[in-house]
Amino acid sequence: MNQDVSLLIIGDEDNPLYAGMGEFLSSYLKWELVSASRMVEQLEKEEHTDIAIVLYRQEAANLEVIQTIKKTSPTTAVVFLHHVQDFQLAREILRAGAIDYLVIPDEKELLSDRIEFLGNMVKVRNKQGGASSSVFSKGRGEVIAFYSGKGGSGTTLISSTFAQTLKLDSTAEVVLIDLNLQYGGVETYLGIEANRSLVDLKPVIHEISDSHIRNVTEKERFSKLEVLLSPRDAEIAEAIDEDYIKRLIRACKRSFDFVILDVPSHIDITSFAAMEEADKIFYCITPDTPSIRIFKSVEELLKRLGIHIDECLEVVVNQAGKEAELTGKDLGRFIQYPIAIEIKKDVKGVLHFINKSEPIRKEAKEKRLPLVAKDIQKWVSSLLK
Ligand SMILES: Nc1ncnc2c1ncn2[C@@H]1O[C@H](COP(=O)(O)OP(=O)(O)OP(=O)(O)O)[C@@H](O)[C@H]1O
Ligand SMILES: [Mg+2]
Repeated sequence: MNQDVSLLIIGDEDNPLYAGMGEFLSSYLKWELVSASRMVEQLEKEEHTDIAIVLYRQEAANLEVIQTIKKTSPTTAVVFLHHVQDFQLAREILRAGAIDYLVIPDEKELLSDRIEFLGNMVKVRNKQGGASSSVFSKGRGEVIAFYSGKGGSGTTLISSTFAQTLKLDSTAEVVLIDLNLQYGGVETYLGIEANRSLVDLKPVIHEISDSHIRNVTEKERFSKLEVLLSPRDAEIAEAIDEDYIKRLIRACKRSFDFVILDVPSHIDITSFAAMEEADKIFYCITPDTPSIRIFKSVEELLKRLGIHIDECLEVVVNQAGKEAELTGKDLGRFIQYPIAIEIKKDVKGVLHFINKSEPIRKEAKEKRLPLVAKDIQKWVSSLLK
């Protein structure tokens, strides 16, 4: 029984989110349920509220509720519960001053852990007398790198279609970064012609902000996906080092929900830095023997370099189909990492778009798509659940 931390649940008794909290609340001694209209009165009572849990309510002023809590009691930590993932709303509630957004019942197990963690933080912070909210501001950006040790495995096609799909089929803010500093590549699949590139951030890289980034990104015209293009210049590429890449990725992480990286197949200091920053690495492989051999040596190299691939690497099988030398199952016998998805080969489908300089995806929830895009669409939708 947790006797120390005081909770205030903001919602009504008939809220289904509240109904699902019974077991969780039974482990707390000090908690109370109030409606939004009586919340201020409760917060102004003598005892300090450590954590306020705001339950989503349709047509209610969810953001205002959070802002009012922060105004009335700045040291109270605010957590928001909702039954669905909504990136747009998540961003807004974080901006309003909440420090976490949990989806119930999907993340029910997380709730106890998070509240316990926050309870301890609030206690420590109050003892120190500080009210710095920065301790809590949790970045939500997830960095996803696409990589293959073998050129031509589909890394660029898959990463750019993945980023576009994520942008079109969800409310998430997404940025795609082309780290092929010498040759580029994503501009071909997205039909972007532009001069701006990620090198233009050089003068501000030490104090890089959201608006700096958005001044340099190109917006893909259909999905409005933000893209940081490659300078496509070997000499300029040399001026970009590990520190630059890390700063760039970390800044993007603060401004976007997903940061998608197209990493070149040769491992140098910049591609290594990118993979070090990644929360997830999707290794693209075609189902044939030479690709497996290369995978094995990459695996060893990454491990030697200290990247924890056991925790973050998954395999994307590309150009699967009847003509392939091996099946996904065969690959699974040689490779001990989870297989995230198998993407079919569809040469005609892909060429049709490249020849027209048009991106493969153009609108949300499209039906008539080449097989590659269809497979990626299914995959992304399963990841978003
Ligand atoms: N599933 C697929 N179906 C049909 N064509 C594909 C598929 N995957 C990749 N391709 C084609 O294979 C070629 C290589 O793909 P892509 O440029 O994405 O690979 P890459 O790994 O980024 O290569 P590089 O090493 O040059 O950066 C392209 O012409 C692309 O259109
Ligand atoms: Mg490429």
